[in-house]
Amino acid sequence: MSVPPEREQPSTYFVQDRANQSEFERLQVQDQMVTSKMGGILPEQPEPEKLRRVLDVGCGTGGWLLETARTYPTIETLIGVDVSAKMLEFAREQAQQQGVGTRVEFTQMDALRMLEFPTGYFSLVNARFSLSYLRTWDWPKFVSELARVTRAGA
Ligand SMILES: C[S@@+](CC[C@H](N)C(=O)[O-])C[C@H]1O[C@@H](n2cnc3c(N)ncnc32)[C@H](O)[C@@H]1O
Repeated sequence: MSVPPEREQPSTYFVQDRANQSEFERLQVQDQMVTSKMGGILPEQPEPEKLRRVLDVGCGTGGWLLETARTYPTIETLIGVDVSAKMLEFAREQAQQQGVGTRVEFTQMDALRMLEFPTGYFSLVNARFSLSYLRTWDWPKFVSELARVTRAGA
């Protein structure tokens, strides 16, 4: 499903102008700082090389997903979803430049709705800074959708 351009704004995301070059730069700096302070991309995972399919919800410029693809060539498919077409265009260019375009896909999707993936499809789902667009009452459905598309014990 693609999101019609007229729906891109207004959005619940607290940054309304997402097509702005300085917003892409701000997100890239923020991504690198946060990943570094987290202790890496997957610091809690004992065996990241065993993951097969990874989803990043609200992927923004794709920094986390692209670094995951570069670091773990054994992960077969990495999918980033975001509501913003401009953000995804930028992320796709980065994937091509970084030589991971065959394993990484960026797809337009509204995470406030049902995620358009089968139940148990992913080994791991990542969602950072979701508080920037989720309202208090959106969280239960959002978390249950993330759990639905994640394979138990993967
Ligand atoms: C602060 S950025 C976080 C980017 C990335 N997760 C990171 O950690 O660097 C939030 C992202 O959520 C996206 N977003 C906002 N509302 C959304 C929605 N309803 N569904 C999916 N993505 C959304 C925005 O377009 C933006 O790219």
